[in-house]
Amino acid sequence: MRLNRFLAAAGVGSRRHCDELIAAGRVTMNGKVCINFSAQPGPDDHVKVDGKLVHVAPAFTIMLHKPAGFVSTRKDPHARDTVFDLLPQKFSRLFNIGRLDAQTGGLLLLTNDGELAQRLTHPRYKIEKEYEVTLDRSWDPALAPRLLRGIFLDGQRAQITQLRPVTRTKLRVVLRQGINRQVRRMFEGVGYRIKHLVRVRIGHLRLGDLPRGHWRALTKRELDSLRPNQYLEIPRLRSE
Ligand code: URA
Repeated sequence: MRLNRFLAAAGVGSRRHCDELIAAGRVTMNGKVCINFSAQPGPDDHVKVDGKLVHVAPAFTIMLHKPAGFVSTRKDPHARDTVFDLLPQKFSRLFNIGRLDAQTGGLLLLTNDGELAQRLTHPRYKIEKEYEVTLDRSWDPALAPRLLRGIFLDGQRAQITQLRPVTRTKLRVVLRQGINRQVRRMFEGVGYRIKHLVRVRIGHLRLGDLPRGHWRALTKRELDSLRPNQYLEIPRLRSE
C-alpha cells in the first residue's frame, strides 16, 4: 500500500491531504523524512506524522440485523436510538456502508475500511440490494412494468431491477441504485404504502437467520466475495 493510502487508512486525512503532508516533509519512515510518494510501508516500518506514530488498524467489517426504529447515523438530532446503541463500545469507530431509513430493518454493513465502503456505495459498481416488501394490500402485477421501467425521483430515473411476488401482499425486489427511500417512494408512486421493509441481501451477502438486533463479523469468504470482480456474476432472486 502506497504511503498516501497508508496514511489515509490510518485516519490521518484524505489521500490528497496526506500527499500534502508528504510533500511538506512532515512524514518520516523509520526516522527519516520520506518524500517518496511511491514508498510502501510494511508492517514493521515506523511511520510518523509530525513526530507522532501512526498505524493502520486491521480492516474489520460486520453485518448487523438492524431492527426498524433505529437510525443508521452515529448521532441523531431527534435523540432516537441509533444502530450504535446495538453494538459494543469497541465498535464506536466503525461507520455504516450506506443507510437504511429509520423504519426499515435488515442487513446493514459497518466497517473501518473506507475503500470497501466506497466500492460498495459507488454508483459505478451497481451493487444489488434485495428487499422483502410487505404492502398494505394485495399487489396488482399489472403495475410491475412501471416500476421496472422506472419513475422519476430526485431528477433521475429510479428503477427496480427485479420484482417477484411471494404472497398476495409480499414481494421481493432488487435495486441497483441507492436513491433516498427509493423502495418506499417507488411503491408510493404506484399507490401503495409499505408496511414492512427488510433488506435481505447486499451483493452476495445474505442476512440469513441473523436475529434482529444482532451482529456478526464477516467471514474471510464473505469479505472476498465483496471484491470488485465478484460482481460480474450476480445471483438471481432465489425462491425461498
Ligand atoms: N428503500 C427505502 O425505501 N428505504 C431504505 O432504507 C432503503 C431502500
